[in-house]
Amino acid sequence: MPKYINTLSFPKNFTWGVAAAATQIEGAANADGKGESVWDRFAATPGKVFNGDTPAIACDHYHRFDEDFRLMKKLGAKNYRLSINWCRLYPQGDGSLNPAGVAFYDRLIDRLLAHGITPWVTFYHWDLPQALEDRGGWRARITPDAFAPYATTVVKTLGDRVKRWITLNEIPCFIGLSLKDGIHAPGTKDSDAVVNQAYHHALLAHGHAVRAVREHGGRGATVGLTHNPPSYLPLTETPADIDAARKCFHEGNWHLLDPVFKGHYPAGYLRAAGANRPKVQKGDLALISQPTDFLGLNIYAGSYVQAQRKRWRVLPFTGNFPQADLPWLRHTPQSNYWTPRHVQELYGVKSIYITENGAGYEDTPNADGEILDLHRREYLRNFLLAAQRATAEGVPLKGYFLWSFMDNYEWSEGYRKRFGIVYVDYATQKRTPKLSAHWYSQVMKENRVV
Ligand code: NOJ
Repeated sequence: MPKYINTLSFPKNFTWGVAAAATQIEGAANADGKGESVWDRFAATPGKVFNGDTPAIACDHYHRFDEDFRLMKKLGAKNYRLSINWCRLYPQGDGSLNPAGVAFYDRLIDRLLAHGITPWVTFYHWDLPQALEDRGGWRARITPDAFAPYATTVVKTLGDRVKRWITLNEIPCFIGLSLKDGIHAPGTKDSDAVVNQAYHHALLAHGHAVRAVREHGGRGATVGLTHNPPSYLPLTETPADIDAARKCFHEGNWHLLDPVFKGHYPAGYLRAAGANRPKVQKGDLALISQPTDFLGLNIYAGSYVQAQRKRWRVLPFTGNFPQADLPWLRHTPQSNYWTPRHVQELYGVKSIYITENGAGYEDTPNADGEILDLHRREYLRNFLLAAQRATAEGVPLKGYFLWSFMDNYEWSEGYRKRFGIVYVDYATQKRTPKLSAHWYSQVMKENRVV
């Protein structure tokens, strides 16, 4: 028999991990002086979240983190991306610090490290204090102003042990979905001028977090933004379609990535925004464009782009296109190849991490209590093949975090859509690794697509 040759390995030192976020797993919504967040308020408002589900209890990770880390370790995850809930530290967003909130994250990080797992900490994964929302939230400059001391406190208290920092998670969601489309908290439909200004304020917060890490993070600390770009795939791998997809990606992301990586808003964006363009103060763009160490990408789905005589077109999907259990989760695995490649080609990013990639379904255990999620395994495996291709072709993709470690609160979808590789029975809080967890465990161990 010829010797089987595996060509699906990842580079040595590739970072493998799992991801989750505070509001989605912690629960303990009123514990130890935590303030109300926009998601606490939004979820309690009838008609906003599927089934009226709230994050009040979630996975009760607040009381079970040690057990969760033990399982994480057992599965072989060496890196864990988590977030800090702003409302635990500053219940009002600014003002006085809540020592119990600091003590919680102190304990949590200590336990994580005791299990030999490296924390990757996101400062902001959507838990805006409601008190700040009441004063204008991201629409107002007071929010990045309040975020600066919050970020400094986080780095000063955890920075002796945490060296991997992520500033913000998915600006397009916590601004676009939240203030323009109104489907995420706080759920308003503001004008374009207000929304563009809010994007700018989010970028300022990113800058403040980078500065906090540089000033207080100590030696070896690294920091980057996590972005969820609309991703674009060439319909064919021919120069014309490849070029069209890259240009399309640029236009879809330039209002965020140009300020961060080039220090200015591009002329095309300013022209299109017209009178609704953001008001920029002196020093803002210098703050926003401070050099970072990596870019995090949350990648779930992309659209196909076809070159046309003039410009290009983004092809519409028909109902026959395969998808996971959410309409936006189209099965476009090549997103894991093209998106990292686009950010490298357009912005010269030298270090890229896929900080989220996953698939949501309504899983149910079988009669034996097993969760044989072949559907998720297939989905993830195809995406990983594309990530592997990126590394093989020299795209500087350095790591991959699977979303999510365990089932959790999927925002407006409540608890029905599950992204976890570990199943959570919300009635008993029992955790059961799914088939996909056993598979991913082997991937991490062998550093290749198995
Ligand atoms: C991205 C978000 O960061 C995360 O919170 C969410 O659960 C996943 N996408 C899945 O929708």
